[in-house]
Amino acid sequence: MCGIIGFTGSKNAAEVLVDGLAELEYRGYDSAGIACFTAPSAITTIKTVGKVSQLRASIPFGFTASCGIGHTRWATHGGVTQANAHPHSCGHVTLIHNGIIENYLSLRDELTATGRIPVSQTDSEIAAMLIDSLYTGDAYQAIRDAAARLEGAYAFCILFADQPDTIYCIRKGSPLVACHSEIGSVIASDMVALLRYSKDYFVLSEDQIACLKPEGITVTTLAGEAVCPEYQTVTWDVSSAQKNGFKHYMEKEIHEQPDALSRTIMPRLSKHTDNDCCYTLPDLSADGIPDSLFENLHRIIITACGTAMHAGMMGKILFERLLRIPVTVDIASEFRYQNPILDENTLVITVSQSGETADTLAALRLARAQGARTLSIVNVKGSSIARESDHVLYTHAGPEIAVASTKAYTAQLSAFYLIAFRAAYALKKLSAADCAHLTSQLLTVVSDIHTVLADKAVTEEIGRHLIKADDLFFIGRSMDYALSCEGSIKLKEISYIHSEAYAAGELKHGTLSLITSEIPVIALATQQDVLAKMISNVKEVRARGAFVILITTEAAVVEEGLYDYRINIPVCEDLFAPFSAAVYLQLIAYHTSYLRGLDVDQPRHLAKSVTVE
Ligand code: G6P
Repeated sequence: MCGIIGFTGSKNAAEVLVDGLAELEYRGYDSAGIACFTAPSAITTIKTVGKVSQLRASIPFGFTASCGIGHTRWATHGGVTQANAHPHSCGHVTLIHNGIIENYLSLRDELTATGRIPVSQTDSEIAAMLIDSLYTGDAYQAIRDAAARLEGAYAFCILFADQPDTIYCIRKGSPLVACHSEIGSVIASDMVALLRYSKDYFVLSEDQIACLKPEGITVTTLAGEAVCPEYQTVTWDVSSAQKNGFKHYMEKEIHEQPDALSRTIMPRLSKHTDNDCCYTLPDLSADGIPDSLFENLHRIIITACGTAMHAGMMGKILFERLLRIPVTVDIASEFRYQNPILDENTLVITVSQSGETADTLAALRLARAQGARTLSIVNVKGSSIARESDHVLYTHAGPEIAVASTKAYTAQLSAFYLIAFRAAYALKKLSAADCAHLTSQLLTVVSDIHTVLADKAVTEEIGRHLIKADDLFFIGRSMDYALSCEGSIKLKEISYIHSEAYAAGELKHGTLSLITSEIPVIALATQQDVLAKMISNVKEVRARGAFVILITTEAAVVEEGLYDYRINIPVCEDLFAPFSAAVYLQLIAYHTSYLRGLDVDQPRHLAKSVTVE
């Protein structure tokens, strides 16, 4: 949420900052700005309402600088105006901020009483005022003193007017990663902005201060002790974060799913001999996840936000089916305030693409504080959730740029399948032979997704029909209900068509009154055990005139008059149907948004990484 970048070095800072902001734009895109040293003690700020392309266009020809900070905003405090865009300045201090300062109102009252007048409605400007009020020439001291007064979450990059070519940074909650390369020192909220300069980067820890100079980065604790940052190497290359010939990131990321799944599944398989037979089974030992993690569990709680939470809904079905351990799925923002009952026999699984979602991180911290075992499914290496969990299973989906999550979701599903299979085997709920069979079926989803991707025409045709709709329903039972929730959010977030996911059997308890001939219904019927019931529910909506898009299997016998479109997913065992069906739903959402002429990758009001509550 909000993208921030700072650079000091030998290249033109304006160029480095704006290029970096373009990479970070998925984090927020209502306004953008940069502030650069244009003379030893002169800082020039340029900001615009709108996207980074508008900021780029407003930078005067020939503008050069060797040090500066840049920001792309997702509004929290104050509307989308030029005044509220970052950077914010007060006296000696110019800063950019990602996060929320919770006590900004009381700080504002205190600081305005000393004659400082804010020009924006933001909490970030109050932080600039606070740091300036504490600055007497020692940047470290001012930042330390400010940190002691600020409540909430923040990542700051700060320029002091009398310290040219130097950027100070601190974070609490919100992420910051940094690298030093031959062009100088760079810091940003996400390593996608660093990729073009270096594959080696470090994560700034909370309550550390980084000082960037062209020749290097110094990290100290708040107490002033030097810290040697732990560098890590990213395995992605720059092209993973580019469109590579696709019209949109979302389209590209949908097509990357076979690779994302192979990368997530394959390294976790190993040969195992049992009764003289050799089996390929999931093996999580290289991830540091011991079988003992699943022993003596009374309960599993899965907690996450958005799409990651929908992956968790599928995880619940798998775990309960295979392990016979009770599982609950909680929205992280609810879980954290519900005073949950946790103990050492509870496993709390957090799921997050970014690894930085504020509510999910808080849920994880709560679980650890109350003595639960914790395991996270995370895509971004070294992210806060990954670092703070007892155990992590990384999805290897690669960078996901489109706000609508696609490859991260199916990679999260595959992680749940691996964990469920391994745990069931470890707990002797599955024999080696049965576990090996399920594992081999999991591998076939990769080719199934290739088949779905080759069958795009039907989803485009469905999109053409849906663009006229105002409301829409997704219905399904069991795994198909969990998938309906994901299909619905995918469609509504990028097409702006209102849609709801409903457990098909629940429709008749109220929602059926909304079904008319104007309402398309996407009915998921991939699960044999509830197929007959599901078809009855399709009949109920059809009888009320609904336009029905049926996603089912070739084997399902369904009267032709019950649907307008029928999609048969590639033949697979029911347990694995969600993968192919999910890709069909992603493609339907993608085409609908594109055909409506909308911004597929950056839907209004949303952001990819939500680091505020
Ligand atoms: C935002 C994104 C969603 C994502 C959710 C959770 O709302 O737009 O696509 O599912 O955050 O993000 P996480 O990074 O924790 O998976």
